[in-house]
Amino acid sequence: MQTQQFSGKFIVLEGTDGSGISTQSALLKRYIENKHGKKVLLAKEPSEGPIGTLIRQVLTHRVQGIREESLTLMFAADRMDHLQHKIIPALEQGALVICDRYVWSSFAYQGIKIDEQWILETNKYALKPDLTIFVKVRPQVSMERIRQNRFQIDVFEQEVILKEVMANYIKIKEAWGSQGENILELDGEDTVENIADRISKKVDSLLINK
Ligand code: TYD
Repeated sequence: MQTQQFSGKFIVLEGTDGSGISTQSALLKRYIENKHGKKVLLAKEPSEGPIGTLIRQVLTHRVQGIREESLTLMFAADRMDHLQHKIIPALEQGALVICDRYVWSSFAYQGIKIDEQWILETNKYALKPDLTIFVKVRPQVSMERIRQNRFQIDVFEQEVILKEVMANYIKIKEAWGSQGENILELDGEDTVENIADRISKKVDSLLINK
């Protein structure tokens, strides 16, 4: 991945479906705006751009017959498009970007069927985050939360799949952690307030030690 050299900071949240990362992303945005008075872009992948929109249609079965190899490339293409049109312009202006899912999601989800090396290669030009927050929830707890909160369940939201996703997340966390990546790992079964508190403390130190 490419080291980012813009004046802003790039923070990514990762976790299985039902891990609460969307809630935490929104809380973090409010915290940074209030406490640090910084401009924040709340981003999400798959993005709201043209490729991300198509991906969502595949995930909800509105579009059918797309193989996992093609989907892997679509996620990588969406990421490059998202970086070019949203993330990089915000970082250039000195804003803080919070992205709900990023490259780790491709390793965790597409990694079930697709070779790791190929995922790495197709994400080679993606920007490296300044911090990755990994929120860990047991697959059965994730599934329980999804059942309670959703009317529509997408292709990856089944317990057996979530177990594989979690195993891949742990693999990538260990590999990239040992390569010096800045990672904050949290217990997603803790209260929303406690998780938010730990995230804000870590982000405080990231913004102070710049
Ligand atoms: P999700 O965050 O669940 O979106 P929503 O809140 O709208 O349901 O993301 C959609 C799915 O996309 C999720 O199951 C994970 C999957 N995904 C991948 O498989 N690979 C990727 O690279 C990304 C970014 C997401």
